[in-house]
Amino acid sequence: MKIAHFTRIGFILAAAGSAVGLGNIWKFPYMVGDYGGGAFVLIYLLTILFVGFSVLVAEIMVGYVGRSDAVASFQEMAPDKKGNWKYAGFMGLTGLVIMTFYSVVIGWILYYMTQSINFLPETMEVAKEGFGDLVGNQIGTQIVFHFIATLFVMSILLQGIKGGIEKANKVLMPALILIILGLLIYAMQLDGFAKSVEFMFAFDFSKINSEAITQAVGHSFFTLSLGMAAILTYSASLPKHTNIFKTAFYVVILDTVIAMMAGLMMYAFVFEFGQDPSAGPGLVFMSLPTVFSQLGGLGTFFAVLFFLALAFAGMTSAISIVEPTVQYAMDRFKWTRLKATTIASVIFFTVGIFALLSYTADYGKMFTFGGMPLFDILDKLTTNFLLPFGGLVVAVFIGFVVQRERVYAALSDFIGETTFKVWYFSVRFIAVPALIFTLLNLLGIISISKG
Ligand code: PFF
Repeated sequence: MKIAHFTRIGFILAAAGSAVGLGNIWKFPYMVGDYGGGAFVLIYLLTILFVGFSVLVAEIMVGYVGRSDAVASFQEMAPDKKGNWKYAGFMGLTGLVIMTFYSVVIGWILYYMTQSINFLPETMEVAKEGFGDLVGNQIGTQIVFHFIATLFVMSILLQGIKGGIEKANKVLMPALILIILGLLIYAMQLDGFAKSVEFMFAFDFSKINSEAITQAVGHSFFTLSLGMAAILTYSASLPKHTNIFKTAFYVVILDTVIAMMAGLMMYAFVFEFGQDPSAGPGLVFMSLPTVFSQLGGLGTFFAVLFFLALAFAGMTSAISIVEPTVQYAMDRFKWTRLKATTIASVIFFTVGIFALLSYTADYGKMFTFGGMPLFDILDKLTTNFLLPFGGLVVAVFIGFVVQRERVYAALSDFIGETTFKVWYFSVRFIAVPALIFTLLNLLGIISISKG
């Protein structure tokens, strides 16, 4: 299948658009709050630096060399083309699982964006009640907004790589960065900003325990869109002779800087107005609107802008989450883009409804398994297991399966021998053991005593 190409800047924006998403602005700040502030941030940063970056280069390489959908790309790069490595490409299906809850959250965001125009809660109690009511009782509203989110994502995907994905990212990414930057500059003038810096960067090692480690590693994969062939699929459309090393570097920097900016901004507001940093997934939906309500008309403006930015961030990631499946179905079954996109969307939309029902008062029990709502199961299954597992597969493939000469050939135009050696070492002997450790840790086989 002939794939339309990105431009170089188009690719960087699309890859960064994939990386920068709800993970940065919705998930990262509340996870920092839930898992002890700076300690979590430190593990997250270390993972990004020593594992995430090297696996990202490896994943881009598979798509760049394979130049096809994920399954065919793994097959193309594998030394034995008839072997089983092609099945690694099915990691792309993880995207359908992620999209079930991702689309529901984009739905919440769209709902809050429209709500904020008329109403912002004045106290935390009112905000809590509002969020609880939406998630716990308003099934119809949630389904409608989940549906609107699905339609938005579909409409971009249907336009394909150049007309849809690249174009959307070129507009939405700069807009998002400007909005977050504007809010951060405002937040820097508040007294809460110093507290926010301290909260995020006071590395308190006593708070590091095995759960925080698993969460931080899982989240670093989630935030870099690793381990499910999203960036790999985009990379198949990279123009030839693109410096994939530098590109990966830009993506990591953009993703990390935006997560830090979002966290600092959010906690400056939270501390300024004496709120609880560990409010969980409701943090952006409860704390921020309350804060914004204290700023009068300006607050309404900020609130709408903020949720708009969040929706942008979610949308540019969502398209990359579904695209691997779409691309595979088009290549493999010769489906049209319309058919592939529609079928994928129907699947995640439908399962997404079950996910949102699992938080409701009326149907929660029906969709709770082993004491955990389906929504959380889907999130934890993907973030803590499937993505690190997919990352491990990529790292083993590039580090130990594909011939070293072939790996070197993909990078030799862009980096020197020494840099290559450092990167190759880190894929083989840092990323692989770290990921095995994380997965074992998750399975409870190795457990660091809680701090
Ligand atoms: N990186 C996205 C975020 O931080 O929200 C989520 C994501 C996108 C995960 C693409 C996985 C993926 F393949």
